[in-house]
Amino acid sequence: MAKKTIADVGVAGKTVLMRVDFNVPLNDDGKIADDIRIRMALPSIQSVLQRGGRLILMSHLGRPKGVPDPKYSLKSVTEHLDTLLDGPVAFARNAVSDNAKAQVSALTDGSVVVLENLRFHPGEQEGDVEFGKALADMADIYCNDAFGTCHRKDASMFAVPLAMGKKPKTIGFLVAKEIEYLSNLIWNPKQPFVAILGGKKVSDKINVINNLLGICDRVLIGGAMAYTFVLAQGGSVGKSLVEPDKVDLATRLVDNGGEKLLLPIDSHCGDDFSSNCNKLIVAAGEIPSNFQGLDIGPATANMYTDIVKSAKTIVWNGPMGVFEIPPFDYGTKAVAQAIADGDNISVIGGGDSAAAINQLGFADKVTHVSTGGGASLALLEGQAFAAVDVLDNT
Ligand code: 3PG
Ligand code: MG
Repeated sequence: MAKKTIADVGVAGKTVLMRVDFNVPLNDDGKIADDIRIRMALPSIQSVLQRGGRLILMSHLGRPKGVPDPKYSLKSVTEHLDTLLDGPVAFARNAVSDNAKAQVSALTDGSVVVLENLRFHPGEQEGDVEFGKALADMADIYCNDAFGTCHRKDASMFAVPLAMGKKPKTIGFLVAKEIEYLSNLIWNPKQPFVAILGGKKVSDKINVINNLLGICDRVLIGGAMAYTFVLAQGGSVGKSLVEPDKVDLATRLVDNGGEKLLLPIDSHCGDDFSSNCNKLIVAAGEIPSNFQGLDIGPATANMYTDIVKSAKTIVWNGPMGVFEIPPFDYGTKAVAQAIADGDNISVIGGGDSAAAINQLGFADKVTHVSTGGGASLALLEGQAFAAVDVLDNT
């Protein structure tokens, strides 16, 4: 059932409480390393402000475990938003306090306040009902535009909309767009439908692989997790990153997958985690003891890109190798180029794969890059979001 969006409700003179995902990556010096999550929330933010709504923005940042930690303050995110919106953005030093309430009361039509990190309060991650009610009481309308957090039942995601009672509970444009792209993949893919799954751990992707094996024509495996499969098949993996306790699971996935599941046939290895290490290309399962697999090999890259080029629908989650360290970016780049060259609908899962696609310069050559890591995986696993189910239908 379609959900009511923020565009469906009149916001003029009303106070809108919008949950966004401003959980942005930070550099060592605390500066915002990538502001895509902030920029992707702008359409919903601007829609409220331009229609004369009074906007409260709330988010978490990092995992500060229920206590204030200056490292995870949303102050610098607020300053950045101020620049992006080209207008004053107020900041409330405590999400639920008399000070926050006063700032909300002082909002005028078309103005905005950002609340300090919700996870400075234990109630947020505990999904506390009272904490949710304190937030909900400040507003007339609720909006969830925090796609990256939709797989969580934190108070701001679930207790708050519940506490809103009969007041409007909507989704924002980012959540609407993300769910549309990712659900279309699952329910309505054009064939051939190819999934490319990489990253470090098989354990993170078990449910995704299982679900996608039921829907896709091909599931291509790369990244370090491929070496756990190699180990399961009795191959030598040298010093490669593996999960020995997941070998049985990998064997079961190979049995279930049959011809649909493709594993690398060769590997680009190094004797160190650096660009100038000694390098070697070997057949899968033949990695010498002092080397580790750092990328899919060229034969695998050719095989995968041929499959990708003829695909009509593609979902990609997780890099093929250590793309941060050339030449081990080769496999990830080759796959990205094949996606860009093909005639397809391509959706890239968030987290590492989004970082890879941005860093390698392919972001504008794919259909959609998700802002959600865990959330996009949850949708690909076929999970429903309680945080979205609780909102109003149209
Ligand atoms: C994310 O980046 O995955 C979301 O912002 C959710 O954060 P969390 O994994 O700390 O709950
Ligand atoms: Mg996460």
